[in-house]
Amino acid sequence: MPTRMSDFAVARSAAREEIRRGLRGNPPAISPKFFYDRVGSDLFEQITRTPEYYLTAAEIGILETNLQEIAAGIGPHAVLAEIAAGSARKARILLGGLEAPAAYAPVDIAEEMLAGQAAAVRRDFPDLRVIPVAADFSADFAFPPFDFDHGRIAVFYAGSSLGNFEPEVASALLARLARAAGPGSRLLLGVDRKKDKATLDRAYNDPGGLNAAFNRNILNNVNRLADGDFDPARWIPHQFYDEEKGRIELWLESAVDQTVRVAGETLRFRAGDRIHTENSYKYDVDEVLALAAPGWLPLHHWSDPTEGFSVFLFAGRDTPPGGGAAATVE
Ligand code: TRP
Repeated sequence: MPTRMSDFAVARSAAREEIRRGLRGNPPAISPKFFYDRVGSDLFEQITRTPEYYLTAAEIGILETNLQEIAAGIGPHAVLAEIAAGSARKARILLGGLEAPAAYAPVDIAEEMLAGQAAAVRRDFPDLRVIPVAADFSADFAFPPFDFDHGRIAVFYAGSSLGNFEPEVASALLARLARAAGPGSRLLLGVDRKKDKATLDRAYNDPGGLNAAFNRNILNNVNRLADGDFDPARWIPHQFYDEEKGRIELWLESAVDQTVRVAGETLRFRAGDRIHTENSYKYDVDEVLALAAPGWLPLHHWSDPTEGFSVFLFAGRDTPPGGGAAATVE
């Protein structure tokens, strides 16, 4: 008789296997999706409020300053579909400026997170339809049927989170979003720009150590998900900008020679060995347009006064190419 595992158990065994495989890789790596347990999500929210992490304030400033133009570009009765919404702080700004939005549809893989977002938005917009979509947008995905009168689907992907994917993966993801959102759709995309290393290094190394704590906290979540015995105190967090690669890299460096048991494996690390935890790509304007090109035509973009961050508005190509062809970014 086959045993039926609950969804929860299935998700957990998949996580464990993914962790095991990542840590056996060269270099060893842990997927950034494991950052976001309760503590990690809370630390991240605090990072976005540090003065060094200019991204959030810059993006909010752009949305507020250009709200009328952005709303005009999106049009009336839109379904605002936010990808990986987090706190939905920015979506609420948009919803306040859009003309009679038909619905807000936050899309996230983390159902717990989704419920919180939906509740917060319902509080602020009691007359708005809120339709949480629990889905893995990094896999092939479709919106549920929106069976009420509505205008276009406007996909909102904020926080430069697109930068956490490799460029070719990011491009394919945008093409999939274009297919899912359909003809006439819009994409509003917030992207952190390439800039001097000092500013970028500071953003990911706040003096209060929130970024370091966030990076290191992934080990606590890995311990829970994959029966690990990582001692976070024995790992030194590094976050730095690699100018050549145009990306922030996050690593955890072993402070000592040590043995770790995790996901049924025994792993030996020498002092100085490193585990990769995340990349955050930074893009020039042309690079963003190239990434989006398979699915989207550029309409306009707005930047903060320092040109450090930009918000792009795109229109869906009517027949986006299949297969998620990647644009070349260089
Ligand atoms: N996507 C944002 C960025 O790359 C937010 C983010 C993801 C982040 N992981 C992070 C911010 C780690 C600080 C540290 O900046």
